[in-house]
Formats: sequence, C-alpha cells, structure tokens
Amino acid sequence: MILVTGGAGFIGSNFVLDWLAQSDEPVLNLDKLTYAGNRENLASVQAHAGHLFVQGDISDSALLDSLLAKHQPRAVVNFAAESHVDRSIHGPEDFIQTNIMGTFRLLEAVRAYWGGLTGEAKPAFRFLHVSTDEVYGSLSKNEPAFTESHPYEPNSPYSASKAASDHLVRAYHHTYGLPVLTTNCSNNYGPYHFPEKLIPLMIVNALAGKPLPVYGDGMQIRDWLYVKDHCSAIRAVLRGGRAGEVYNVGGWNEKPNLDIVHTICALLDQLRPKTSGKSYRDQITYVADRPGHDRRYAIDAGKIERELGWKPVETFETGIAKTVQWYLDNQDWVGHVQSGAYREWVQTNYAARGA
Ligand code: NAD
Ligand code: DAU
Repeated sequence: MILVTGGAGFIGSNFVLDWLAQSDEPVLNLDKLTYAGNRENLASVQAHAGHLFVQGDISDSALLDSLLAKHQPRAVVNFAAESHVDRSIHGPEDFIQTNIMGTFRLLEAVRAYWGGLTGEAKPAFRFLHVSTDEVYGSLSKNEPAFTESHPYEPNSPYSASKAASDHLVRAYHHTYGLPVLTTNCSNNYGPYHFPEKLIPLMIVNALAGKPLPVYGDGMQIRDWLYVKDHCSAIRAVLRGGRAGEVYNVGGWNEKPNLDIVHTICALLDQLRPKTSGKSYRDQITYVADRPGHDRRYAIDAGKIERELGWKPVETFETGIAKTVQWYLDNQDWVGHVQSGAYREWVQTNYAARGA
C-alpha cells in the first residue's frame, strides 16, 4: 500500500479518488483535518475496502511510527501542509509547525522505517514530497520559466516554509540515502478546491452576488494546471522518477488573474445567466494588494515530459469549463464548507482590503 498525507485536502483528495479509481493498491490516508481538510471530499470512497482514513498529524512521531510499522507502505506521498499564502501572512506559525517541523518529523519516521526494510523493498521505497513553484520566487515579464535548477527565492512565509521542507527532503537523500522525489507544481484548480483560493472564491462569490475581489491591478500571472493532471504527474513521478530528483509540474497556461476572473464570469453568464440580464463582471472590485505579492510564476515542465512522458491533458479552456460546472453541480458541498470559521477568515482577509 501507499501512505498519503493530507489526503482530505484539495489536491490530496483528488489524488486518493483517482488512485482508487485506477489501481487496486490500497491507500492509507493520514490527515489532521484542519479547516482545509474535508472528509466530504472522500464521501464516494468511504466504504471502499482500499481506503483507510486516519485522523492525525504528520508531527506526531509515535503515530507515524505505529502506522508505518503496521501497514508497511512501499511509498509515502506527502501532501500535508498549510497551503494558503494569505493565511501565512496573517499567521505564519502554523506554516512553520506543519510545513517545516511536520515534514521533519515525517522524514525522521520514514528514515527509521526505511532503514529497517530489507531486500528489494529498500531500494524500491519512495518518499514523494509535493511542493510548489512558489519556492523559486517571482519572475519578471520576459524571464524564462522556472526549471528545476532555478535558485530558491521564496517571498512569503508559506513559500519560505515549503522551501525549508524541500531542503530537508533533499538533505535526507544526500545524507542518509533516503529515496526521495520532489515535485514543484504550479497553481492547481478543479473539484473540491476550498473557496479561499482565487478560482473557487470567484465562482462562489459570483453566484452569491458578492464582490469579486481582485488584488492590486489583477495583472499578476500564474500558470494554471487542472488538478487531475497534477495527480497523473505525481503518479508518473512515483512510477518512474529517479530517486533524488526534482520534477517541475505545470500546465503551460500562463494567465493574468484578471483574465481568469473574466473567463469565470463569461462561463457563468452562459451557464447561469442573471435574471437582470447583467454580467457577473459587474461584481469585480479592485482591492488592496497582497503584501509582497509575487508578480509572475511560470513552470518549464520539459523535464517531466522528456523523462517520464507526462503532459497535461486539459487546456485551460476545458479545465475551467469543467470546474465551473462542478461548482454549479455541487452547491451542497459549497454550502457545507462555508462554516463560521470560513466566514471569519473572509472577514479577516477582506475587510481591511476594502472589499
Ligand atoms: P489544502 O490546504 O487544500 O490541503 C492540505 C491538507 O493537509 C488538508 O486536508 C489538511 O487537513 C492537511 N493537513 C494540514 N496540516 C496537517 C498536519 N500537520 N498533519 C496532517 N495533515 C495536515 O492544500 P492543497 O492545495 O491540496 O495542497 C496540497 C499540497 O500541494 C501542499 O503541500 C501544497 O503546498 C502543494 N501545492 C499546492 C498547489 C495548489 O495550487 N493548491 C500547487 C502546488 C503545490
Ligand atoms: O503556485 C502554486 C501555489 O498556488 C500553491 O503553492 C499554493 O498552495 C496555492 O494556494 C497557490 O498560491 P497563490 O497565492 O498563487 O493562489 P491564490 O489562489 O491564493 O491566488 C492566486 C492569485 O490570485 C494571486 O496572484 C492572488 C490573487 N487573488 C487571490 C485571492 C484569494 C486575488 O486577486 N483575489 C483573491 O481574493
């Protein structure tokens, strides 16, 4: 079996669902169920014999030791993290605890477990660390996209904590020989995306008749990847990636934020027209920028394509259409995630921005 951490979050739950749909190999899913973890994402596999869910923290060494000893996974895929840049600006401590200390504790537990493996199981074992393009910092308009050898220049507490975790993973390979793989991915979007991030927030706010808060001038560029394509990239790296290597994963889809918001509004105008006949675009509001806002990210995903034959299947146009439709079809899920804690976060993040 494989051990997946953070498998109740956005990308982790998509990964678990896809894995179980495509493989007979069981998944042990360890998730702390923070505000971002949601067992409803996994409702369709609740009774699946190949899915074992454990609520727990990757910083809990005793729990990790017992899970590894009992279930003897052949691989660990580490999604567990605090993942939202704006939250890291308001309160960095959880990011340091989970992304740095948590990854460290996980690496220590895995190192001890792996050290005890014998025969073929030892070289075949893999620790796959899921990371982000944000560790590379910000690109100017004409700079080439990030390759795997781009220097690390993290600019937010979130990206700094992910950079630290990447360095720990690298060091555990270099020093102890642990067979690690690291993936650095661009912005994901798709089903089960918690509506604190740009795309789901815009869809959810548009449908609720609320302002669509664009930070600064809205011309910051991100490289968007449909989440199912990210999941297939991780499977490809797990299957064929060379131990100790880093693979950048991206969608070859650089777009300014404002274009993203316009596309969402156009899709909603078509799929759920307002009775007033007006466009959702009228809800766009420019608000105060994110402090230290990275201007542009772009991933060169050439290495994973050359070495492992992986390419994204979705274009932005197909992926965003599927995503908007998913939110229209899953209004119950949207209602359930908008808890009191969610509303408090919206108040914290947007009130001071003038939204
Ligand atoms: P998410 O915030 O939606 O989910 C994170 C999950 O981790 C949640 O289920 C949460 O409960 C769990 N978790 C948090 N702290 C934990 C802990 N201490 N122990 C166990 N579980 C814990 O995040 P996501 O968007 O799904 O991102 C998953 C991973 O991918 C993260 O490592 C993130 O840095 C990385 N990543 C995300 C994106 C993106 O666009 N979302 C892009 C590139 C990389
Ligand atoms: O690049 C990969 C990263 O992508 C991941 O590592 C992170 O976990 C993930 O959250 C994401 O980070 P971003 O900061 O790029 O994503 P977010 O959705 O928060 O913001 C995307 C862009 O949209 C960014 O330029 C800020 C802007 N934005 C965001 C929100 C929430 C707005 O203009 N308005 C908003 O309300």
